Amino acid sequence: MNYNLLIKQIESLISSNEKQVSILSNVCAILKEELQHFWIGFYLVDFDINELYLGPFQGPLACTKIAFGKGVCGSSWRDKKTYIVPNVHEFDGHIACSSKTNSEIVVPIIKNNRVVAVLDIDSEELDTFSDTDRIGLEGICEKLQIIF
Ligand code: SME
Repeated sequence: MNYNLLIKQIESLISSNEKQVSILSNVCAILKEELQHFWIGFYLVDFDINELYLGPFQGPLACTKIAFGKGVCGSSWRDKKTYIVPNVHEFDGHIACSSKTNSEIVVPIIKNNRVVAVLDIDSEELDTFSDTDRIGLEGICEKLQIIF
């Protein structure tokens, strides 16, 4: 996957000055189209109640709320780092929104040193995500912090 091209597309979405929800929705569309994974979406931090809530996504219906430190998404939020999970069935506390998911990557979006959202990508295959994906997706999430 050529992440440089994806980042350019996403930069152009960001510079459109559209609303956050519109930009995140189109980022999901681009990622789904290009990466073709089973589920791609954002969970956003609700700072009032310290919980993640479901944002724009592409794929089947998903859980709407995730507590701090729970699941892969909540762990990424807590630890402020990317989680690559080659086999979700071996991840203690994994939240299974779909039984079809076998591997997952979650990348935090960090603004002013705090996590404001996470990008979650689920795959039906085991061991889907590499360091190249991590670097590419972290590049995308770094660009996206500006819209929070
Ligand atoms: N598997 C995630 C929950 C979100 S769904 O995959 C869309 C987790 O463990 O945090």
